[in-house]
Amino acid sequence: MRPQKSNQTLINMHPKPFIKWAGGKQALAQKLIDYFPEKFNVYYEPFLGGGSVFFYIRPKSALLSDYNEWLVNTFQAIQKNWVTVYQNLVEIENTKETFLHVRSIDPFSVDLFTRAAYFIYLNKTCFRGLFRVNKKGGFNVPYGSYQRRYADPDNLHAVANSIQGVDIQAVDFEMALGNTKKGDFVYLDPPYYKFGGYSDFNRYTDQQFNEGDHYRLASVCYELSRKGVYWAQSNSNTPFIRSLYAEDSIIEIPARREINLNSGARNITELLITNYEVANKMQISLSE
Ligand SMILES: C[S@@+](CC[C@H](N)C(=O)[O-])C[C@H]1O[C@@H](n2cnc3c(N)ncnc32)[C@H](O)[C@@H]1O
Repeated sequence: MRPQKSNQTLINMHPKPFIKWAGGKQALAQKLIDYFPEKFNVYYEPFLGGGSVFFYIRPKSALLSDYNEWLVNTFQAIQKNWVTVYQNLVEIENTKETFLHVRSIDPFSVDLFTRAAYFIYLNKTCFRGLFRVNKKGGFNVPYGSYQRRYADPDNLHAVANSIQGVDIQAVDFEMALGNTKKGDFVYLDPPYYKFGGYSDFNRYTDQQFNEGDHYRLASVCYELSRKGVYWAQSNSNTPFIRSLYAEDSIIEIPARREINLNSGARNITELLITNYEVANKMQISLSE
């Protein structure tokens, strides 16, 4: 499956994430799906983020979710009426003063479409496009001073088309997977378990994703396997994660991290863990 941009109808355009998101899988999506099952019923993605993997495969029947309510509301607003989101967005000025004003507004005090426009605006104009919140859930990234387009209307239209009829929810991953059935497939991309001496990014929500959540995720995966649900999970290449999934199939994947608190881009290895045998076990590389 390769991304295709059509000049004829927007519905054929392959959507791209409309926001930059820490841990986003845009660069890896094509490689990851080589390891996905060829056939499945409903597709679940409970750590949706920017949605790069979903946009790559665009399954007809899907449940997409994330615990970040503002992010999920943005997808829901685009699904309902992308044009209103776009119109609200392009009206906001890219100045430090406006940025600070928008940042100070409680997103849940404005209507859904304005909230979505604020989310995309802050993501595009904040420093390094890094969505990060404080303990009270307030967005706290400084102004980035970039002169770039906030949104590509063709892409927003393609995003909206790709999520028509899709269930999108702001819930914790465990709740999102409660109704999975035999033959469904779940792609899991949680905030990665922290490397020793390396500060992984994990402030997507007011709750940090901690070691206890990784244990909880492992037991949810165990339950999925028991039900006959296929799953694949991306996570850090650490002894802790390897020990949690010792019974499953594990492959190493070279991956590039774009947002890293210690340095700029650097190459590291991460894991793709599956509860099914992957047909193609060749090493995959970003430089191919
Ligand atoms: C690594 S990012 C996913 C990136 C995504 N695959 C992409 O390509 O953009 C992890 C996501 O998990 C979400 N998250 C954190 N805690 C969660 C929880 N308890 N339940 C569901 N989602 C959660 C974060 O808001 C974040 O969007």
